[in-house]
Amino acid sequence: MLAEQAAEAIAERTGVERHRVAVVLGSGWQQAAAEIGAPSASVSMPELPGFGEPTAQGHVGVVHSVPVGETPVLLLMGRQHLYEGYQPADVVHPVSAAVAAGAEIVVLTNAAGGVRPGLQVGEPVLISDHLNLTARTPLAGATFVDLVDAWDPELRALAREIDPSLSEGVYAGLTGPQYETPAEIRMLRTIGADLVGMSTVLEAIAARALGARLLGISLVTNLAAGVTGEHLSHAEVLAEGNAAAPRLGKLLRGVLERL
Ligand code: HPA
Repeated sequence: MLAEQAAEAIAERTGVERHRVAVVLGSGWQQAAAEIGAPSASVSMPELPGFGEPTAQGHVGVVHSVPVGETPVLLLMGRQHLYEGYQPADVVHPVSAAVAAGAEIVVLTNAAGGVRPGLQVGEPVLISDHLNLTARTPLAGATFVDLVDAWDPELRALAREIDPSLSEGVYAGLTGPQYETPAEIRMLRTIGADLVGMSTVLEAIAARALGARLLGISLVTNLAAGVTGEHLSHAEVLAEGNAAAPRLGKLLRGVLERL
């Protein structure tokens, strides 16, 4: 299987047999990597079986092996999205490979628009649940995966011990790449979304199907369409990520130290 091949390549190239934790750093999160720790090894994504090259601006496309205390952490710098033309199987491959490489805990991060009134730009929010609005799934066949408590309540509690000011929210994953209309955001609010983005939900489903525990953190990089009169841009998303990087990095480091 491709995930096992990638896991073997990761072990070979990093010299680490098992990475017990994997972290996917999404848009706006790349700068946070520096706070997590110095990599002991790094591999470019296209050199790993089945990995594509992330094309979204601000996605580095490198996998780092970072020792955090006793825990070898696999840090995936960037991801593939449906809007880049990738299929669900491609989008979730890095997470499947990470689980095959030993990850029992998968941390998924992303940039999101704030849908719930009161969310602030620059605020990290713990993902408590999600709405998969991509109309796609990474699963095939009769794989009836239970998604109750998919976003591990204990891991969220642990994150709140590190930063008690963290709030929680429901992340709605759409395909993009266009940002939403104000009418779509009103609809999302009505159906229970607090955050909106273009990633994460397929990876979450795949991770749960493989039995990994999940922690998710969205960085609110902008208020969603129509919440203010402002226009939306990817440049703003990246800029807010850079500004929040020290806080995000410290939060991740704090969580990883306790896993
Ligand atoms: N919508 C969708 N995806 C996003 C947004 C948004 O407002 N901000 C960052 N990613």
